[in-house]
Amino acid sequence: MNPVNVGLLGLGTVGGGTVNVLLRNAAEINRRAGRGIHVSHAAARHLDAPRICPTDGMRLTDDPFAVVRDPDVDIVVELIGGYEPARELVLEAIAHGKHVVTANKALIALHGNEIFAAAQAQGVVVAFEAAVAGGIPIIKALREGLAANQVQWVAGIINGTGNFILTEMRDKGRDFADVLAEAQELGYAEADPTFDVEGIDAAHKLTILASIAFGIPLQFDSAYTEGITHVTRDDVAYAEELGYRIKHLGIARRNDQGIELRVHPTLIPERRLIANVDGVMNAVLVMGDAVGPTLYYGAGAGAEPTASAVVADLIEVTRVLTSDPENRVPHLAFQPDALADLAILPIDAVSSAYYLRLLAKDKPGTLADVSRILADRGISMEAILQKEPAAGATDVPVIILTQRVREGEVDSAITAIEALDSISAPVTRIRVEPLDAH
Ligand code: HSE
Repeated sequence: MNPVNVGLLGLGTVGGGTVNVLLRNAAEINRRAGRGIHVSHAAARHLDAPRICPTDGMRLTDDPFAVVRDPDVDIVVELIGGYEPARELVLEAIAHGKHVVTANKALIALHGNEIFAAAQAQGVVVAFEAAVAGGIPIIKALREGLAANQVQWVAGIINGTGNFILTEMRDKGRDFADVLAEAQELGYAEADPTFDVEGIDAAHKLTILASIAFGIPLQFDSAYTEGITHVTRDDVAYAEELGYRIKHLGIARRNDQGIELRVHPTLIPERRLIANVDGVMNAVLVMGDAVGPTLYYGAGAGAEPTASAVVADLIEVTRVLTSDPENRVPHLAFQPDALADLAILPIDAVSSAYYLRLLAKDKPGTLADVSRILADRGISMEAILQKEPAAGATDVPVIILTQRVREGEVDSAITAIEALDSISAPVTRIRVEPLDAH
């Protein structure tokens, strides 16, 4: 059988890795897909830029629209990233009857509903395993491997740059900016690194995971997104003293009121496996009602780990080229006409436990005032840690762990605590999640 012709948009890190994996593993890939997979046409912004892969045997162009309109191309692989022109290119490819493979999490999180509707109307597939957690096959696991389950919650370390920064701060006491610069040099960070450290990249990925877990339309705009820039080395050390690690987690949880969809720094018990996922590695913990907790771990970025997911999608799309479009695995795991209209909860309606760090004047009655404010709102303290004042200082850090409570109550308590004369600085609040079987 003739090989499948691939049109590749982007010949950078992931594009180059994809070509290399296709070439190196060609025989195995052929045995799996039933035919060869050949990059016949590729678009790159700079035709004479240095490459990590050979380009023999492929036509090269700097016009990506020439690739998506090429009648000889069967599958378009979009690896240019960003919203536009990626959206326009993918829709154009679909309009030309091409199947699409993409690693573009921003595109799927924001425009996936439109793109999947267009693909369904044309009877083509849009595959996006590489969009979430790089080389970890979490889309496949959630969409197919766990299809028997009601997924209760998903919690993931899904941004390698953020995890690398928090790990280096804990292990080596390094500064935030210094570690971020290294992540940029290593090629892990997004083109705009605020996407990493402000949680936007993780929110893109979480939005996709939540849709597949719960069968809901993609709703990136409703995700609560908080970055790691306010986490200090002291917070990392205090958390450690209390038996916790701080991780930047994406959490999607189904409860009686709706769906929680939130990205924020989180204290998790250090005994959990996911608390020990360090450096640029990613991990996703999924709780299914039948299977219980399952954990998926691996490289979340990088040329060949991401190419691993892209090529797996290429193999799958190659296999389904001749299948009945009505009988394929749905894009969002659930049949498009069976997506649920579940509300995404605002963050003040979410319940969590909390780590609160106060800077208090070292005088009698301060803690009594704080305790009263918490008690008045039904907030119970789980642990309290008061540090000695630094030499010459009169303010002392006080760390309180609360029991689980509605976020709105904690907002109100923080406002009241900050209004006390004895409190010298804004209160730092970090959510705490046990990530146990509930
Ligand atoms: N900037 C992303 C990360 C790359 O650090 O995880 C992979 O999506």
